[in-house]
Amino acid sequence: MKTRKIAVIGAGHVGSHCGFSLITQGVCDELVYLDTDRDKAVSQAMDLADATVYLPHHVNVRAGDYNDLADADIAVMAAGPLPDEHQTRMDTLGATIKEMKTIVGPMKESGFSGILVSISNPADVIAHYLQERTGLPARHVISTSTTLDSARLRRVLSERTGIDQKSIHAYVMGEHGESQMVAWSNASVAGVPLTELMKKHPESYGKLDLDEIAAAARKGGWIVLHGKKSTEFGIGTALTEIVKTIFHDEKKILPVSCLLEGQYGQRNVYASVPAVLGADGAERIVEIGMTQEELEKFGDSCETMRKNFKIAMG
Ligand code: LAC
Repeated sequence: MKTRKIAVIGAGHVGSHCGFSLITQGVCDELVYLDTDRDKAVSQAMDLADATVYLPHHVNVRAGDYNDLADADIAVMAAGPLPDEHQTRMDTLGATIKEMKTIVGPMKESGFSGILVSISNPADVIAHYLQERTGLPARHVISTSTTLDSARLRRVLSERTGIDQKSIHAYVMGEHGESQMVAWSNASVAGVPLTELMKKHPESYGKLDLDEIAAAARKGGWIVLHGKKSTEFGIGTALTEIVKTIFHDEKKILPVSCLLEGQYGQRNVYASVPAVLGADGAERIVEIGMTQEELEKFGDSCETMRKNFKIAMG
């Protein structure tokens, strides 16, 4: 029987918490860490292996090398610098590309033919860069991008409405960054459009300030980064949600960054949109209805990423 093997490239804060989330949810059978700092890869792997003793699922966790990519089902790209609190994620483009240039060659030589889920910032542009440079099929290269921002949005909406996050449906789309936008016309609670609830039940929903809520979601990562110099748990479970959906061929729709080929009038850009995820990656994009204003905001976000992608490929 084929075991489920994941290779995590980058054993830093993000990579380690992705690993912890993956093993606690029993998503894979083998987890291998690759890092230029071999001691860090070994220490993260050993620490996680210690944790598996008291977890319900047996997982083989170890440090490895690029040869481990050959039969990996999924590779998680978590290498690269974190932005400091005075930067944007896009500001780290140059440093991250420099690191990606040392990884893409060995990745291609390994014969990796699985699905690449990229986290490294600036998330959408890096995913696009990796797809171009590896030549992997576009549906096999996606980024977590606003899977995490959408979680933050639903958390803030839950705080403001008193309704559990899982009963709130809302997407952050576009860039995992400053130009992201919220498709408010698509947001709903128990299937009822949020904007309708705000009109019909002003006593419960009328005070919601959608711009303030979108800003709180966009800034969520920076508050965490400011306090603990990294973000860890949110990205760990966002990544695991994507990996679980792929491994179990769930055909679940999640907001992930993938290559647009005409959807929403956009092409040749990676941007976060609701996509059907399954064993073959981002299998198809389900275009949601957006207002003209929302489409324009989304288009602006795509233009920001296309511009930076050109710089990345320069
Ligand atoms: C964050 C990082 C993953 O937003 O960009 O937490």
